[in-house]
Amino acid sequence: MAFQYWVHRGIKGKDTFLCLNNAYHGDTVGAVSVGGIDVFHEAFGPLLFKTFRTPSPYCYRCELGLEYPGCGLGCLERLSEILKEHAPEIAAVILEPMVQGAGGMIVFPRGYLKGVGELARQHDVLFIADEVAVGFGRTGRMFACEHEGVTPDFLCLSKGITGGYLPLAATVTTGEVFSAFLGEYEELKTFFHGHSYTGNPLACAAAIASLELFEKDKILDGVRKKERVLMSWLEEMKGLRCVGDTRGIGLVGAVELIKNRETKAPYPLSDRIGYRVCLAAREKGLLVRPLGDIIVIMPPLSISTENLKRMLEILKESIAEVKLPDQRSRLPSKGY
Ligand SMILES: Cc1ncc(COP(=O)(O)O)c(C=O)c1O
Repeated sequence: MAFQYWVHRGIKGKDTFLCLNNAYHGDTVGAVSVGGIDVFHEAFGPLLFKTFRTPSPYCYRCELGLEYPGCGLGCLERLSEILKEHAPEIAAVILEPMVQGAGGMIVFPRGYLKGVGELARQHDVLFIADEVAVGFGRTGRMFACEHEGVTPDFLCLSKGITGGYLPLAATVTTGEVFSAFLGEYEELKTFFHGHSYTGNPLACAAAIASLELFEKDKILDGVRKKERVLMSWLEEMKGLRCVGDTRGIGLVGAVELIKNRETKAPYPLSDRIGYRVCLAAREKGLLVRPLGDIIVIMPPLSISTENLKRMLEILKESIAEVKLPDQRSRLPSKGY
């Protein structure tokens, strides 16, 4: 849609996208082309279209070697340089606002998202916010873009739209983009793309029911309360020597396990640390998944505070069991 928008406006040459390292937008060839996770995407290199890639705002492992805070958002500067030079070739910038999910639950530093939004506008490049993972309350706001007052040109929505009960997705755009697709029938300005189950009524009914619950059960207030529990646990986990970084926002958190805190060296792949921690958690009745050695915490937004605390307790024990058997007795019990 972003590409065709420029075609309809008669502006030529805007035939690629600006995307981020560590990005994940799905598994079709187009989505993989704007993805940036080598283990997922590298093998498909020859099939992908050309894009411009900019560093991920992954402060713990800054690609530019800068220390945060005090880095002056060097990653934003890099993005700005690309736009200055190549905006006439770029249809849109695409990113996952506030949290890069599959790339490791990378939480953006303050100001990054707003900066990208402003730069895109300044350089006449559309801004696509992929809120498939973070939309509908995951970060404590209905949409993650709200954290920095950004209004994207496209909002990609799915997962939380139905509370996860039925599969549904929606692509939302502005009146301006929509209008570019209007015209006389014979002009054929239609967006000729759809999917077998587009607009499935049952899934839409589930989405409406879920939206009603947001109001009735004050879901967002609940997320913000439970966020405090999660954040204080993440802070506590930073004290463990096998933990390099923890990060989170709303009801999404991550614990990055590392072999050496000083050098930030990861565990050898063959150690399968993340996998083993999650197996240990499963033994205790908790299903979580790792992203490599990053343990992901992403409970349903409706989780009770009691269950959240139980979940975090099990995770702490599982990490201790796999990685810190000698430190186990020194772990503080509960109380976050
Ligand atoms: C941010 C983001 N975008 C897109 C997708 C892909 O969605 P789908 O599997 O529905 O294509 C995902 C799936 O995990 C995602 O996290």
